[in-house]
Amino acid sequence: MLEHLEKIRSQALRAIEKSGSEDLEAIRIKVLGRKGELTSILKSIGSLPAKERPRFGQLANKFKKEIEAALERRKAQLESGGQVQQIRGLDPTLPGRRCHVGRLHPVSLMMGEVCSVFERMGFSVVQGPEVELDFYNFEALNIPPDHPARDMQDTFYVDDKVLLRTHTSPIQVRTMEKISPPLRIIAPGKVYRCDSDVTHTPMFHQVEGLMVDRLVSFADLKGILTYFVQEIFDKDTAVRFRPSFFPFTEPSAEVDIQCVMCRGKGCRVCSHTGWLEVLGAGLVHPAVFRYVGYDPEQYSGFAFGLGIERITMLRYGVDDIRLFYDNDLRFLEQF
Ligand code: FA5
Repeated sequence: MLEHLEKIRSQALRAIEKSGSEDLEAIRIKVLGRKGELTSILKSIGSLPAKERPRFGQLANKFKKEIEAALERRKAQLESGGQVQQIRGLDPTLPGRRCHVGRLHPVSLMMGEVCSVFERMGFSVVQGPEVELDFYNFEALNIPPDHPARDMQDTFYVDDKVLLRTHTSPIQVRTMEKISPPLRIIAPGKVYRCDSDVTHTPMFHQVEGLMVDRLVSFADLKGILTYFVQEIFDKDTAVRFRPSFFPFTEPSAEVDIQCVMCRGKGCRVCSHTGWLEVLGAGLVHPAVFRYVGYDPEQYSGFAFGLGIERITMLRYGVDDIRLFYDNDLRFLEQF
């Protein structure tokens, strides 16, 4: 009799463990129902010798409770997660582990946004090498050797003729060598200068812009750049064009945006001027056109080069450019 009882118990527990939700009620009826296997045994206790009855009764009741509990547990398991829980040792009630999802760096996000504003205005994207010839970085841009303008950018040289490009402007020349006007391109990429403080890093990103056609004027440049600034910042952000000098453009300008950190009042980021320079621009110098074989009497064009980190700082209110390259996840995960 005891053996029979133990057999009912172990068979029931095994069946419960393997069961799907539709089997549970059938198992319960088969074992614990009115005519179930265990119920029948409990009913037959009276036929046992009197001294065996208490021990047998206690055991049968204990097995009954065990089977009821197993049925409940299995029901809860099936309701909360289906098949997965059949994997041994998996506890679906434990809290999940947090999964770190990668995301784009704020500078990459801004680079994408800037490029898409210009692409919507009909500019196509071109690229050039980061390790560049002195010729394209300087000479073809009207900056001969020993020209004082070379000091405007502190250059990392690889050897006499090769350097890490200090700006994206060499891509202007490389593009004009290959394509005849009219053209409208932007060239995004990394550039390098020996420079480091709250608004300067030794590696940063620029986007070069170049448009060449007949009768392109400074008004076109102002229109395109003002539209760009209004798309990236809100429509009220003040912009100013300040006369400047670049050997490869004439006339030249630097474009400043009102400092968003202090709203123009003056702070550490804008060196207490209320303005932050974001790009350099101008009309392409005739000497550059001559280098690439364009006729400056027939064609005119504008070019600009903007600093992506500066724009990202202004957009997100970051007051130290170096934070972008510290790789501190607490900073990067905010974007
Ligand atoms: C130039 O690099 C010119 N090639 C821009 C240009 C292109 C002028 C075409 C005319 C025609 P500039 O050195 O001012 O210019 O740099 C352009 C922008 O890059 C700056 O306005 C600034 O936003 C950013 N920038 C310059 N140096 C750094 C630096 N070290 N770290 C971060 N951003 C910088």
